[in-house]
Amino acid sequence: MGIQVFLQKLSGLLLLLCALPWAEGEKVLVFPIEGSHWLSMRDVIKELYARGHQTVVLAPEVSVHIKGEDFFTLQTYSVPYTKEEYRHQLLGHLQNFFETEFSLKLVLQNVAGINNISAFYVRSCMGLLYNTALIQHLNSSSFDVVLTDPFFPCGAVLAMYLRVPAVFFLQSMLCELESEATSSPSPFSYVPRLLTMNSDHMSFLERVKNMVYPLPWMYFCHVNYGPMERLASELLQREVSLLEILRHASVWLLRKDFVFSHPRPFMPNMIFIGGINCANRKPLSQVCIQSLFK
Ligand SMILES: *[C@@H]1O[C@H](CO)[C@@H](O)[C@H](O)[C@H]1NC(C)=O
Ligand SMILES: *[C@@H]1O[C@H](CO)[C@@H](O)[C@H](O)[C@H]1NC(C)=O
Repeated sequence: MGIQVFLQKLSGLLLLLCALPWAEGEKVLVFPIEGSHWLSMRDVIKELYARGHQTVVLAPEVSVHIKGEDFFTLQTYSVPYTKEEYRHQLLGHLQNFFETEFSLKLVLQNVAGINNISAFYVRSCMGLLYNTALIQHLNSSSFDVVLTDPFFPCGAVLAMYLRVPAVFFLQSMLCELESEATSSPSPFSYVPRLLTMNSDHMSFLERVKNMVYPLPWMYFCHVNYGPMERLASELLQREVSLLEILRHASVWLLRKDFVFSHPRPFMPNMIFIGGINCANRKPLSQVCIQSLFK
């Protein structure tokens, strides 16, 4: 059942990618994010290759997980870090982001650290965007689409810079950014916010909680994405906001499902492909099964 749904969704996604006014063998530029984000993107690239599309994947030359494979072309760029520094800084913190569910404590206590990651990431992005020879090469390659995860929106800025349409591939954004950027309705009275444990039926106090909980996140997003906005503004030589960068997306492919999150309104260019997370399944371990039946 799971795999059937997955295949349905995947073929939906590919149909979508193919139904854009493309003939055979279009050119896709991919800007992935290290870590677990890369794994499901890799499956999509494999399928694009099977369908005759050409893919170029961009990665820093010190990249840990993204390595050349026969179904895409790897294009690296230099960054001002050694492999060790890169692994320690970016992956260490990414683990904080994704594996500990990103507690409020982290937001409030580690603003210096957040500033640091953000600056680190932006410098890595500058290694790409200010590499004139590489940008010229990418520009003259006339890509049809940029496929990227906008969690760190470097790929989105690149797509704007090259004037190529973008397809976003993501789990979700912090601070309800995906709703805000696409103007999807997200009323505080009905849509439960991150970590509140509220449902869509809220008492007055729960609604208050729903409004108060996002505040530290908004501060986090402001601190975290500020340097990226400044970089984009400098590059495009006009004032560019984060929302404008996110609005460059033609299609949002969301790796989630209402099985896990509350139903809520989304725009028609936002497509749910949560089944893709089940592409690489493994049987549950004994320990895991036992804890289920406790
Ligand atoms: C900030 O980054 C530098 C290297 O870029 C590192 O040496 C320092 O420990 C970091 N500080 C924090 C608070 O993470
Ligand atoms: C890409 O090439 C076009 C046509 O030569 C040029 O007008 C544009 O400025 C270039 N863009 C970048 C980002 O280099």
